Amino acid sequence: MKEKPDRLGWLKGGECNVVTEHRPRPCRFVLLGAPGVGKGTQAQLLAELFDSYHLSTGDILRAAKISPIDCRRSPVMAEAVSFMDAGQLVPDEVVLGLIAEREKYSHSGAGFLLDGFPRTVAQAVMLENLLGKLHVQLDAVLSYELPLEKIVARLSGRRTCPICKTVFHDQTRPPKQPGLCDDCGAELFHSEDDRAVRERMQAYETRTAPLADFYRSRDLFITISAEGTSEEIFERTLEALNGRAEAVAM
Ligand code: AP5
Ligand code: MG
Repeated sequence: MKEKPDRLGWLKGGECNVVTEHRPRPCRFVLLGAPGVGKGTQAQLLAELFDSYHLSTGDILRAAKISPIDCRRSPVMAEAVSFMDAGQLVPDEVVLGLIAEREKYSHSGAGFLLDGFPRTVAQAVMLENLLGKLHVQLDAVLSYELPLEKIVARLSGRRTCPICKTVFHDQTRPPKQPGLCDDCGAELFHSEDDRAVRERMQAYETRTAPLADFYRSRDLFITISAEGTSEEIFERTLEALNGRAEAVAM
């Protein structure tokens, strides 16, 4: 049977399976966009299609801090938690450390999706250096765009699985059984973080939006409207990637 990427494994950062079956060309994408625009949802859909690893720094940080799974904290995870406990932003070097300790995923034959990372130009430069050393190249940077009022509606209905991190929405993507994860049956939670959305939007504008120019200058940047249903956006994403057929073997 085909081996599936082990999401809990990379959350812990420990030993776990890496897909070795190679696609004709592994798909390596960065997903950009404001908090709540739907990056995680699109990453889930893309990861299913490409069998690739969905690496979300937000999920890693939350897992390090509050995970009910038996999470063996590496030194860099413990360092990240110490900043979060002090109410401070996790510094760029520490976030890069979290990615670097999961470096084996970058060699996966199926590729990877970086969701929520890089988040600053400094992180993008660090990522470029890290991937350069590993002789791995990004295929595309997908930037999802949506007006603020629609983002607020998406976040206020978001429900997340504390175990496998699958994302639902109580109106637009409800679980089969109310309040329970379709995949592992755990009780879904509504993150406190969602309520501070306007603050997060401001941080996004100042720290993350400048990444557009960084990736435009490397001819990797693709803008995708995040209007409509997740499935419509997914179709739009695949069309945009098809438009770059030279970079991605579909
Ligand atoms: P992170 O978890 O990355 O949060 P984020 O970037 O703010 O984005 P979200 O995960 O909130 O939203 P999303 O775009 O994934 O949307 P989703 O698919 O869930 O980071 C959290 C925090 O960690 C940060 O604030 C920061 O402090 C820290 N952090 C993370 N990375 C860091 C880094 N690199 N450096 C430093 N700090 C870092 O969708 C939202 C909802 O809408 C869901 O309910 C979904 O079901 C629903 N939905 C999705 N698509 C649609 C649609 N088309 N129509 C209707 N509903 C939809
Ligand atoms: Mg997310």
